[in-house]
Amino acid sequence: MKTTHDFMKMKQASEKITMLTAYDYPQAKLAEEAGIDMLLVGDSLGMVVLGYDSTIPVTIQDMVHHTKAVKRGAKSTFIVADLPFMSYHISKESALTAAASLMQDGGAHAVKVEGGGEVINTIKALTTAGVPVVAHLGLTPQTVGVLGGYKVQGKTAESAQALLQESIKCQEAGAFALVLECIPWQLGKLISEKLDIPVIGIGAGKHTDGQVLVLHDIVTFGVDRLPKFVKQYGDVNHVMKESFQQYISEVKSGTFPAEEHTFTMNEEDVQSLYG
Ligand code: KIV
Ligand code: NA
Repeated sequence: MKTTHDFMKMKQASEKITMLTAYDYPQAKLAEEAGIDMLLVGDSLGMVVLGYDSTIPVTIQDMVHHTKAVKRGAKSTFIVADLPFMSYHISKESALTAAASLMQDGGAHAVKVEGGGEVINTIKALTTAGVPVVAHLGLTPQTVGVLGGYKVQGKTAESAQALLQESIKCQEAGAFALVLECIPWQLGKLISEKLDIPVIGIGAGKHTDGQVLVLHDIVTFGVDRLPKFVKQYGDVNHVMKESFQQYISEVKSGTFPAEEHTFTMNEEDVQSLYG
């Protein structure tokens, strides 16, 4: 299994870091078998798995439940789990307790927190307590209400400068990696160059030290409208829907089950049953 140290080495060697979200056992198992470097149990869980329209309703219990399933599927992969909305803002104690749940109950190796500002102190408290932290800046979905929508961040020199400064603060506070979401590629490149820790981009261009995407997005599973930064590598919707339709149609027509799907008993025993 790769460690935080290995991710740092990968950055130094200019070897790209691959990260993908996973929310359950089969997804984690397949991603591990495919050779992913790092898994993220994202609070995007709320949207792609639980059917909410944002990440806000996701609870620490939801996150622990799904992190456990991911852990069972990917025993040899570094697992990061998101601290959900409001689980790390109320107090240092609540942040530490929530992180402990993800690591001790869920089996995560690290947690991810959104935002700079006040959250910088939380990153410091978590790392001091032995919790490896991934910071997340740029478009931060938990604060979408404050940001005023899912929009590209850091497009002006002033806002880009602010994002760079926050990124440096995250590193200084002890974060071992930084996720940058939905920013211009030039800013993704600059921050990746300025930081020693690996920068994992999502909609941050090709110059970051690694990339992360949502599993459901890249295989087109349950999702229809996708952000510009997603590339679809497969079409699970099509495969699943076609299989469902065929199953329905074969049951209706009597084609399924066929003999090879059927159990049988001796003719003698059948006769005695009928008397
Ligand atoms: O929850 C999530 O899936 C994430 C990634 C998009 C970075 O935070
Ligand atoms: Na998230």
